Amino acid sequence: MYKGFLHTHYLVVSLFLLLYVIKTVLLLSNKTDLLKTFSKKTRVFEIVISFMFLLTGIYLMTQLPYGSKYDYMLWIKLIMIVSSIPIAVIGFRRFNKTLAALSLLMITGSFGLGEVYHKKKGIAKQTENIAANDGKALYEANCNLCHGPNGKLGMSGAKDLTATTMDVAAIKDIISHGKGAMPAAQVNTEEAGAIAEYVNTQIKGH
Ligand code: HEC
Repeated sequence: MYKGFLHTHYLVVSLFLLLYVIKTVLLLSNKTDLLKTFSKKTRVFEIVISFMFLLTGIYLMTQLPYGSKYDYMLWIKLIMIVSSIPIAVIGFRRFNKTLAALSLLMITGSFGLGEVYHKKKGIAKQTENIAANDGKALYEANCNLCHGPNGKLGMSGAKDLTATTMDVAAIKDIISHGKGAMPAAQVNTEEAGAIAEYVNTQIKGH
């Protein structure tokens, strides 16, 4: 479900950008008549993908791990996308090149910014003041936000840990190195071992 929405979001955002790049190029190269025809022909398509852009975006935001809802980058991204819409509408309606180019820049910029930032950041170190052998506390600090206290939360496409068939070694490995959408936890080997032990005995199969 999460992955489906994520892929649909990327697809509609790409189509949306493609449409705007074409329109901006037509406007900047003074092909006003062609722009009018193109806009008319793609009108329904544009409404559909804009709607899907919003819908999938809102869904994905509800699936963000707890901490990132307070992430200022996310709000900058959102404000940039939302404010670029009226700028684009006015820009294309008035054939104003500056506004059209500005809105395109804001949309691509906010998308790129978010991507780069999220890849770089990962999950912040959460082990301050927790004993390295306290698997439960370490789990709560590092894993709760996606897997939840009972392992079933499933935020950001996280797997249900009660249903995992992994052994301690495999769990420890995934904690240290991450997998797919799961970032590696900022913990040392001993801490990763304690968390894996906790997941294996207290969450798996419960
Ligand atoms: C940002 C969200 C996020 C955080 C934080 C997170 N996980 Fe995950 N976890 C995921 C996602 C997404 C997957 C699915 C990865 C895949 O299979 O592509 C996953 C998968 C797993 C799996 C594999 C389950 C299986 O059977 O395939 C284990 C085990 C696991 N996580 C344990 C942990 C532990 C322990 C922590 C804390 C150290 C943690 N995760 C923190 C998102 C997260």
